Amino acid sequence: MSDGRSLKGLVLSGGQGTRLRPFTYCHAKQLLPVANRPVLFYALEQLAEAGIREVGIVVGHTAPEIRQAVGDGSAFGLSVTYLHQEAPLGLAHAVQSARPFLGEDPFVVFLGDNLVGTSIRPHVEAFLRRRPACQLLLREVADPRSFGVAVVDGRRVVQVMEKPAVPPSDLAIVGVYMFDVPVWRALDGLRPSARGEYELTDAVQRLIDMGYLVEHCRLESPWVDVGSLESILEANRVALERLSGRIEGALDAACEVEGPVVVEAGARIERSRLTGPLIIGSGALVRDCELGPYVAIGRDCRLESVRLRDSVVMEGAVLERIVWPLEGCLIGQQAAISGPFTDGGRFSLALADHSRIRSLDGGP
Ligand code: TTP
Repeated sequence: MSDGRSLKGLVLSGGQGTRLRPFTYCHAKQLLPVANRPVLFYALEQLAEAGIREVGIVVGHTAPEIRQAVGDGSAFGLSVTYLHQEAPLGLAHAVQSARPFLGEDPFVVFLGDNLVGTSIRPHVEAFLRRRPACQLLLREVADPRSFGVAVVDGRRVVQVMEKPAVPPSDLAIVGVYMFDVPVWRALDGLRPSARGEYELTDAVQRLIDMGYLVEHCRLESPWVDVGSLESILEANRVALERLSGRIEGALDAACEVEGPVVVEAGARIERSRLTGPLIIGSGALVRDCELGPYVAIGRDCRLESVRLRDSVVMEGAVLERIVWPLEGCLIGQQAAISGPFTDGGRFSLALADHSRIRSLDGGP
């Protein structure tokens, strides 16, 4: 930058992830796999692709797992600094915890559980060119009530609200925000909201109220806020759509392949029908199955006599001899569902809190 400051990245990867239980009992939600890669990795790649080199990652109680997955950031072409947030008190509090790291530099906040379908580079370039105090990324959504929502006038943002019961517009705030130094004035003295969190939307509203320029760019590509179990499947679909087919594992002559299918080296597939978009991780064994579309099978899984679509199976899981077609499943690491199950047969299940087995017949 001409004034000697450099644009930094700030990825928020603390939080509790209560809505993603039971998976977040064992793992950081930002490490849940979509198309076999942690959702956080896509954010880091996009920051690097936008030309950012120095990135702070705000971490909470899952710090060791995040550090282990990301390391020093060099695998992404980044230099990563870990910033500890003492308690998950909200997005604005997470940004405050990063103040010594950010100093006087402008920065891009990327929520570590958000998946954005295209490059953020044009939006970063617009921010650097126009230099507002804050630039939001907005996307039209069908039901804005569970998002931050913005009201705009041309390029300007004139009002923002967190999860309004009666949304004043259909423009949701995507989890990628850009800020310059005035944000520290807006964050100082911010009070917690009715739900007890320091809200980033409240800081943005304070910037507007103080007369600073807050602008927006529109996002046309898919965007998934991986907050709920259903949204993991949605993120998985979006990430799988971006893959091109690549068969590096071993398929026998009785296999059929249709559409973009990735079979990683060391995976073995026998007598199965694979319909893309689909990814099968290294070391997996698939036998007599019908998989896809929109399925991600993690490393070292074993699947036998299973029909599965629109699902995420995490590494080391076992699914065998299940008579029913499976759809919309999230199967945790090392989980096992072992048949033979037959209609009217008996079975025994040991499932963690909040796990679900749901029939898709007979309505919602
Ligand atoms: P949220 O989804 O708003 O919060 P959460 O992760 O605690 O989830 P839940 O509501 O299900 O309990 O968080 C968005 C992102 O910001 C996510 O990557 C976690 C991160 N975050 C922090 O780093 N610090 C915080 O204090 C909070 C609330 C979130």
